[in-house]
Amino acid sequence: PAAPVTVTVTGAAGQIGYALLFRIASGAMLGPEVPVRLRLLEVPAAARAAEGTVLELMDCAFPLVAGLDVFDDPAKAFDGANVGLLVGARPRGPGMERADLLAANGGIFSVQGRAINDGAAGDFKAVVVGNPANTNALIAASHAPDVPASRFTAMTRLDHDRAVAQLAAKTGAPVSAIRKVAIWGNHSASQYPDITHATVDGGPATDLVDQSWIAGEFIPRVAKRGAEIISVRGGSSAASAANAAIAHMRLWVHGTRAGDWTSMAVPSDGSYGVPEGLVSSFPVTTAAGDYNIVQGLDISVFARGRIDASVAELASERDAVKGLGLV
Ligand code: NAI
Repeated sequence: PAAPVTVTVTGAAGQIGYALLFRIASGAMLGPEVPVRLRLLEVPAAARAAEGTVLELMDCAFPLVAGLDVFDDPAKAFDGANVGLLVGARPRGPGMERADLLAANGGIFSVQGRAINDGAAGDFKAVVVGNPANTNALIAASHAPDVPASRFTAMTRLDHDRAVAQLAAKTGAPVSAIRKVAIWGNHSASQYPDITHATVDGGPATDLVDQSWIAGEFIPRVAKRGAEIISVRGGSSAASAANAAIAHMRLWVHGTRAGDWTSMAVPSDGSYGVPEGLVSSFPVTTAAGDYNIVQGLDISVFARGRIDASVAELASERDAVKGLGLV
């Protein structure tokens, strides 16, 4: 049998955590042959609730579960971790300014970055889900100087999946017929969901939909889907976010299929004019634990404007956390 993989999940008692842990334990993330040691990190006030989730995980008697532990100390939670799902974050409270939010999350992700630096396994990989996800990933990476920055990624797979679903609904094609949708930029309303290179049943998606639908309906629908879910469901996306986090990590570990890519926010290497180091979403291909930003795509004037606007927002978030001494 394969060696167990140690997976640390932060924010384990939250709503995404609850939707995530059982699926990881069932093998949905790393595969049906790979045992998992789950390490759950929570704040002290929520550690007991996380213990309750552990009781339920036990009661599932998942054959792949090789360990279940709850921690309120990041150093212990990340000790030996191969995979980190960084979900726990400080939500914006009433009257909280953006700078307060960045500072509160900076405190969380700098401490976790240090813990990862000191204790995680050599092949450690992280996906940051907690918002502002891209900048939180940047903060964590900058506190883990001994871990390659490329291992700190942020989740835009939910935006990617939302884009696939909207294109499928519009064209009447099954989601399985859709390839090469891309999300660029920040996981925020400024993101650019891009179907310029997408195919539906092997043909160009742009042959099936017109530019006015793309600019007037598709892009705003995907970019504001989080708010739509809150208004309809009465709570923020949870199971869909957990599903996307699982897909993000599964694809990173096992690879994208031939003729397709995924979207991941990764530290830029300067590709497509995105300043080096900013954690920005790109189309990426993955294979066996590595990823590569897809190169050589034509970027239209429209796309350039959308990407630049979202990247400008990322740069301003980076400047704000730099001003706070967090990167
Ligand atoms: P939640 O509020 O239900 O759960 C968050 C949990 O994190 C809480 O149990 C809290 O105690 C815990 N937590 C806070 N600080 C922590 C710390 N320092 N260490 C460990 N745990 C800590 O929130 P939910 O709905 O589970 O969402 C989690 C995050 O994911 C939020 O920041 C949300 O904005 C973000 N999100 C991101 C998405 C994306 O596409 N990137 C999509 C949906 C949500």
